[in-house]
Amino acid sequence: MIIALTFSISLSLSLSLSVSELMLSVHSVDLLSSKMGQNRMEHHTDHYHGNALIIRRGQTFQIELDLSRPFNSNTDKLHLDLRTGPLPMVSKNTHVIIQLVEELEDDRWEAKIVERNGNRIKLSVNSHAKAVIGKYKLTVTVESPKGGSATTRDPRKDIVMLFNPWCEDDTVYMDDEEEKKEYVLNDTGRLYYGTEKQIGDRTWNYGQFLEGMLEACLYVLEKSEIPPPGRGDPVNVVRVISAMINSQDDNGVLAGNWSGNYVGGVSPTAWNGSVEILKKYHKEGGLPVKYGQCWVFSGVTTTVLRCLGIPCRSVTNFQSAHDTDVSLTTDMYFDEKMEPFDELNTDSVWNFHVWNDCWMARPDLPPGNGGWQALDATPQETSQGTFRCGPASVTAIRTGQVYLKYDTPFIFAEVNSDKIYWQRNLDGIFTQIQCEKKAVGHCISTKAVGSDKRNDITHLYKHTEGSEEERIAVETASRYGTKPDVYSTSMAEDVSLEVKLEGEGPRMGADAQLTIVMTNFSSQTRKTTLHIQVAVMYYTGVLKGTVKKDKMPVALKPNEVKAMQWVLPYHSYQDQLVDQAALMLTLSGRVSETQQVLATQTSFRLRTPDLSIEDVPLPSFLNSMVNKSRLQLNFKQCRDTFFL
Ligand SMILES: *[C@@H]1O[C@H](CO)[C@@H](O)[C@H](O)[C@H]1NC(C)=O
Ligand SMILES: *[C@@H]1O[C@H](CO)[C@@H](O)[C@H](O)[C@H]1NC(C)=O
Ligand SMILES: *[C@@H]1O[C@H](CO)[C@@H](O)[C@H](O)[C@H]1NC(C)=O
Ligand SMILES: *[C@@H]1O[C@H](CO)[C@@H](O)[C@H](O)[C@H]1NC(C)=O
Repeated sequence: MIIALTFSISLSLSLSLSVSELMLSVHSVDLLSSKMGQNRMEHHTDHYHGNALIIRRGQTFQIELDLSRPFNSNTDKLHLDLRTGPLPMVSKNTHVIIQLVEELEDDRWEAKIVERNGNRIKLSVNSHAKAVIGKYKLTVTVESPKGGSATTRDPRKDIVMLFNPWCEDDTVYMDDEEEKKEYVLNDTGRLYYGTEKQIGDRTWNYGQFLEGMLEACLYVLEKSEIPPPGRGDPVNVVRVISAMINSQDDNGVLAGNWSGNYVGGVSPTAWNGSVEILKKYHKEGGLPVKYGQCWVFSGVTTTVLRCLGIPCRSVTNFQSAHDTDVSLTTDMYFDEKMEPFDELNTDSVWNFHVWNDCWMARPDLPPGNGGWQALDATPQETSQGTFRCGPASVTAIRTGQVYLKYDTPFIFAEVNSDKIYWQRNLDGIFTQIQCEKKAVGHCISTKAVGSDKRNDITHLYKHTEGSEEERIAVETASRYGTKPDVYSTSMAEDVSLEVKLEGEGPRMGADAQLTIVMTNFSSQTRKTTLHIQVAVMYYTGVLKGTVKKDKMPVALKPNEVKAMQWVLPYHSYQDQLVDQAALMLTLSGRVSETQQVLATQTSFRLRTPDLSIEDVPLPSFLNSMVNKSRLQLNFKQCRDTFFL
């Protein structure tokens, strides 16, 4: 009797509790990570081998939770924890706590319930566009008011976070779809070698999506001992990768060998791709693989960066100089009898050299220097004590701004140094006997987008050989080298150059009017030709393309202050504008009388009415055309016509 009574009491008790007051627990977590599922398709990670959840930062993904009972938003609580690295910390962004919200906002770690189906809920989770990349572990925590303590459940599977060239807020953002297909998603390519007159090519198997490759690439990052908080910054990541691909100082992936004797290893010419190399390195626990030369270092670099989500390509430079003394010239020394001075001739010109371009904004540099960045993993010279090189802005290389980091002088010299011949006189002093200005940096080549053709990108690295702009770049650069007096410097610097914007600056939709002011501080006349170039720029500082080039002859009377109007017609830039349109104006020239170099860069925004979805009354016809959730999409297409 007593037993029966107890039973009935407990039964009636549990019946009197409403369902939502029962303890809540997580039965299972489904990361919805199947290879062809929505998450991986939307994140462009469906090519990677296996069924892990591989996502890109700054973009939402879905997960499903199976709970012990239906979730009650009024009383139950839920949050997610993502942890990466050995010592996850909230202050270092290596431990993120994701709370439930009603509406997701860009650039935040947040989650929202998007579907309820009995005991199952589906969450849409947003990540930050500057998130640390790598492997994360997920924990789900739920709490119910009377259900007692929180329960957590770990799906025992890693989530892999990658860079996101599809996300505008990620610094590796690249807008052209075909370029992303090539520079992130293509897993084969071409490498160029030989001499400029006989360019050879070979197919290289990057293989970044094959089984074990993502793990191997993440292993390289891990081995680099770059602390996890640093793994959110692509500038940092590519610099570290350039050091890790060669074995010097850090037991990196590949040992270089140029001796011709490759016993005990694989001859550098025998490799046909990166897969075997990276897998071997991973499998053997970080033992350098033997042997590599420049194209192997470059091919492996392309694989690792594409795998991590940074747009990247291998690039070959023919007649590539190796400047050992940071003079920014390639120097050949001869004695009195014109015999080469072997011990001094440490600079050399390689028939070809292969390095990498990787794509990113450079928030650490002045605007205009984003876009392609040169990166060289072949161990040639140390940079801050380590064998690594770059990233150096290709724009900075072209304009000779070698003081912009990283290692710009070295790459500048590879493509654009003059070859200077020195002879020792009887008194022991060397004098310059000849200067070859076109000896270095030819036919810079990379595989074309969407075809197997060779694409010549020399113009990205240097102005037309022999043009005044190219000479100005060389002389600008050499001033920052160890032999600043190689070029007879100008006799006087008495002309100044400045750009002024009218009023609040040019307005979108109209011709842009600029005032160029030149001042003659001397008592003689001064003449020059100004080279004017305007390029469209993303707000990230990445140049999109040149929209106008112009030349303007200028003659200054003594002491004259000359203000010249220069107009950029609307039609020349209207089709080219990108988000938060900005333009970069570059002026350069040389004063005929004094050889003084003039150069200045100005970036300016085109004024638009400040727009925010809530505040700006929309034209009524627009209101009826779009609803709020679609406005964002239509906004770009509408802007030109409605708001300018
Ligand atoms: C290149 O490989 C050969 C043969 O294994 C070896 O004797 C030589 O020391 C290597 N050179 C370098 C620089 O590692
Ligand atoms: C590349 O080399 C490996 C062996 O080293 C070989 O199995 C593979 O078939 C080669 N691939 C191509 C495309 O030649
Ligand atoms: C890679 O590029 C080559 C040549 O453009 C093309 O044939 C191939 O289909 C591309 N591969 C992928 C996966 O896009
Ligand atoms: C608003 O746009 C969204 C997305 O296109 C669509 O799903 C929804 O049905 C639209 N709502 C209305 C009221 O038109």
